[in-house]
Amino acid sequence: MLDIAENAKESNLLKGTIVTLIFFEPSSRTFGSFGAAVKQLGGATIDIQNPQSVSSVAKGESLEDTIKTFESYSHALVMRHPTAGSAKIAADAAIIPLINAGDGGASHPTQALLDLYTIYNQFRKLTDLTVVATGDILHSRTIHSLIQGLSLYSGNTMYLLSPPQLKLSREDFNTFSKSGIKLVEIEKEEDIPQNAQVWYWNRIQKERFASHEEAEKYKDTFVLTKKLLETYGNKDMIIMDPLPRVGEIDLDVDTDTRAVYLRTQMRNGKYVRMALLALVLGKLS
Ligand code: NCD
Repeated sequence: MLDIAENAKESNLLKGTIVTLIFFEPSSRTFGSFGAAVKQLGGATIDIQNPQSVSSVAKGESLEDTIKTFESYSHALVMRHPTAGSAKIAADAAIIPLINAGDGGASHPTQALLDLYTIYNQFRKLTDLTVVATGDILHSRTIHSLIQGLSLYSGNTMYLLSPPQLKLSREDFNTFSKSGIKLVEIEKEEDIPQNAQVWYWNRIQKERFASHEEAEKYKDTFVLTKKLLETYGNKDMIIMDPLPRVGEIDLDVDTDTRAVYLRTQMRNGKYVRMALLALVLGKLS
């Protein structure tokens, strides 16, 4: 997969192929890059953003029936949904490939693929890495999936920096800790290890809190500033963020050459999704 992403380029591999992009939650990068990936490979998309207002979901149609409908017009489905577990329900209902583009706060596997690819491209390995992940660890599906992705390779350690209320659920912590990765929970910037290869910042996931006020309590915790980088960073690391950025990284960090979030990390989304679609649709061996 890493090799395929590396060599992904314009082709007609998906000529005659239709992919439905059905997004029940807002999306810029995931929706945009999946659409670009399909088109770059010569395929076409059915774009359904906000099915709650533009499709029969508005009339009360079930998720399963909606999935069965669009699978009759397409060769693969890409779905984002606010409820954890819905990707499994939809995949079980479908007889064509269904790609999870974000499943509530639980998982975002294609983001993990592009994150791993970005890390691999920089360090030429996915083993023996030290990664610091920060923010709303409890609700961040990208951090959940990155932990799972890094667990597949040996010798990786992730430091999880968050306020105590936004740590992983104990269930996730225990499950992930048994899966081959070392997780270290920290609550203070002073505990950031100086030898990390990756700093991975993610916003407070305000849409997953019970109220706006509750989410606001955590606004501006652990903001990545130039000063923080100077104090705890090192010259070889990279700075990642799945984006959108909502105050968690200062704008003046953007020009730092270690900051890849608005550059390669975001762009890799298209290449990795090109490779994934070609694989899933049986166009590559
Ligand atoms: C992420 C998501 O949707 O979980 N965004 C993305 O897909 N790049 C991260 C986020 O919204 O914070």
